[in-house]
Amino acid sequence: MAEQSGPGVEHVLCHVCGGQVTSFLDLGRQPLSDCFLAPGATEDEYFYRLAVGVCGSCTMVQLIEPVDREKMFHEDYPYYSSGSSVMRSHFEDTARRLLEHTATRTDPFVVEIGCNDGVMLRTIHDAGVRHLGFEPSGKVAQAARDKGLRVSTEFFEERTAVQVRSTEGPADVVYAANTICHIPYIESIFRGIDALLGEHGVFVFEDPYLGDIVEKTSFDQIYDEHFFFFTARSVQAMAAAFGFELVDVERLPVHGGELRYTIARAGKREPDAAVARLIDEERVRGLADPIVLRDFADRVERVRADLRTVLHDLRDQGRSVVAYGATAKSATVANFCGIGPELVSYVCDTTPAKQGRVTPGTHIPVRPVEAFRDSYPDYALLFAWNHAEEIMRKEQGFRGAGGRWILYVPHVHVV
Ligand code: SAM
Ligand code: TMP
Ligand code: ZN
Repeated sequence: MAEQSGPGVEHVLCHVCGGQVTSFLDLGRQPLSDCFLAPGATEDEYFYRLAVGVCGSCTMVQLIEPVDREKMFHEDYPYYSSGSSVMRSHFEDTARRLLEHTATRTDPFVVEIGCNDGVMLRTIHDAGVRHLGFEPSGKVAQAARDKGLRVSTEFFEERTAVQVRSTEGPADVVYAANTICHIPYIESIFRGIDALLGEHGVFVFEDPYLGDIVEKTSFDQIYDEHFFFFTARSVQAMAAAFGFELVDVERLPVHGGELRYTIARAGKREPDAAVARLIDEERVRGLADPIVLRDFADRVERVRADLRTVLHDLRDQGRSVVAYGATAKSATVANFCGIGPELVSYVCDTTPAKQGRVTPGTHIPVRPVEAFRDSYPDYALLFAWNHAEEIMRKEQGFRGAGGRWILYVPHVHVV
């Protein structure tokens, strides 16, 4: 139980360094963000408390209360990474770069944590390179196996990493996208990396960047699955805490702004100048400063108020409003802002596993995108704003028919 000190402020222990984490934003009672329910089966829905804080010692921003991993990642986990053409080419490019620059030894071995439906590993496999994906969510893991990939359905952690090392030998690269930030048991991850990685191997991972979240007020990046919100500075501290070193950082435009971190064993590789440069920039921006983070929290409240006003006004004017993209992120927005079927009649989404179900907590029906194209609404709330370019390109007919998009990043606006 978190200790209270002052109105609304809580302190818990940091999952990286054991220092004191102080909360700066409370998003209230929230459902599991990827738990899409059958319409008649919403009674026993699971809720948890979503609040976020910053560690006063290592600067890591993290959730105040973790959710059990088995509640989030299981047989029916409905997120399929290959659903976006932009992400497919992002991961093809990533795989090619790993093959060209990192997995260059004879008979290299590439391991991916959270390989999902194989969106990245398929290119490694097609190149004939030895690989193994860890993917505990059963159906998405099967989608990767259907592509011919080698997949373990165990969670990656120290125990499973040690097993792989003993049977397969050292890995040249351990890669993860949008997965390390999901893992509160981070010490076990680094112990596993230590067991598995060859002496000169690298651990490369990419996740949403706190710098982008603060700049864009994209508070919807905060939900059960996103436990950590990384910066170059906090990842540098985390790597050092476990005997590793941050040796490179690269900004990525995907998912609303991410950072890719390259981590090596301490002292094995000269850090690129980009690391010190970005850490300096983060210091100037005050990304670990409670005042800056509380200002972010104030802007979140403003977005909530503005979005509610727009949606209530449209309803009062009798306009039709739907949402586009039943993203995990949108669970935070819908539940925090009180957006249910009375304001947004349905959410369209291309994922068969989400269609015919209702959204977590707010119970908005999820329909195939054909429902949207068959009869355009007046307004569409773009929950999948991180895929805006791809979606707006393929949905030009909506604007052509007079439809308007409602966006809430970086502030509420209609285009
Ligand atoms: N890498 C893909 C991408 O970027 O699109 C998938 C990201 S998805 C948001 C996170 C994935 O990590 C899920 O498929 C989940 O099952 C998996 N995952 C969570 N914890 C894990 C762990 N300890 N080991 C391996 N995979 C894990
Ligand atoms: P993400 O933001 O976590 O990647 O989730 C995107 C969601 O939006 C996912 O459920 C798939 C859906 N989607 C569409 O419905 N149409 C699209 O064109 C894209 C790119 C995603
Ligand atoms: Zn800490």
